[in-house]
Amino acid sequence: MTETELLSKKTSMLEEVISGLSQQQKTLPSKFFYDERGSKLFDDITELDEYYPTRTERKILEENVNEIAEYLGEKILLIEPGSGSSSKTKILLGNMENICCYIPMDISGDYLYKVAEQLRLEFPNIQILPLSADYTKPFELPESSPDARKVVFYPGSTIGNFKMEKVEQFLKVIHDIIEDDGAFLIGADLKKEIRVLEAAYNDSEGVTAEFNKNILTHLNKELGTSFNTDLFEHKSIWNEEKGRIEMHLFVKEDHVVGLGEEVINFQKGESIHTENSHKYTLEGFAEMVSEWFEVEKVWTDERDYFSLQYLEPR
Ligand SMILES: C[S@@+](CC[C@H](N)C(=O)[O-])C[C@H]1O[C@@H](n2cnc3c(N)ncnc32)[C@H](O)[C@@H]1O
Repeated sequence: MTETELLSKKTSMLEEVISGLSQQQKTLPSKFFYDERGSKLFDDITELDEYYPTRTERKILEENVNEIAEYLGEKILLIEPGSGSSSKTKILLGNMENICCYIPMDISGDYLYKVAEQLRLEFPNIQILPLSADYTKPFELPESSPDARKVVFYPGSTIGNFKMEKVEQFLKVIHDIIEDDGAFLIGADLKKEIRVLEAAYNDSEGVTAEFNKNILTHLNKELGTSFNTDLFEHKSIWNEEKGRIEMHLFVKEDHVVGLGEEVINFQKGESIHTENSHKYTLEGFAEMVSEWFEVEKVWTDERDYFSLQYLEPR
């Protein structure tokens, strides 16, 4: 990244942070969890007993990989926004002969490049083209296999992190990428008992708490802000009306934080809302994507905890 690009990235990050923290309910965009430490902490979360989504989605992928391959077609260019460790994608890369190229895309650039190096060793016959980018901003895909079918793989129910009003925008971006003959393979977490949901985001080992607080550590490092992370307490709460788990950082005492030339005041007991994880019914999900996509096939697990869905563009 050039000096100018780096500066513009920091300026835009600072603007987003100031805008979020100036609202009555203070918020921060969840994408700022992810520097290299944040990516590693997320990987640790996926191993926790309470965190059912990764385990369940992996099982769905493993059990149905042959059928998934049939749906995806002959020659595939696989694109994954928010690829992280690409660990679920390896199930596809290792079991499907029809993938010629894989574009993992992530905002956590250092981590992404390390993962891509490993993938090149593990899958020498597949072209691996990592793209470090924020997919909520305009981006360009690297040139590759123009005759392959473009398939966007978006596991982890990461779509649930978008506010409902931002989902449409994201769906349109994916619709434009895959064009008329591509496909969208997406993981969507399903509604279930609140006790299971809240436990998944408030684990007993405190890993999710560390992950949540890393957003502040990341901002301190990247923007020179002065958050005292010891003053913040992690809590995840089910919001019934909005159908989502909300992750918050509650401040234990009054706190003043410098942000560039601005100062943000925190009052004891208030929170920063750092992440949403919406949960869906199958009908609700189909309805949510219906302007851009048609759901052609749904795979679920035996408890109906999670779904993997094959969508085609309208
Ligand atoms: C919840 S993790 C999911 C990782 C992986 N896809 C999985 O299913 O296990 C979200 C990933 O998306 C990345 N991410 C979040 N927001 C992003 C954005 N706006 N642009 C690019 N990557 C983003 C994070 O760095 C992280 O690796």
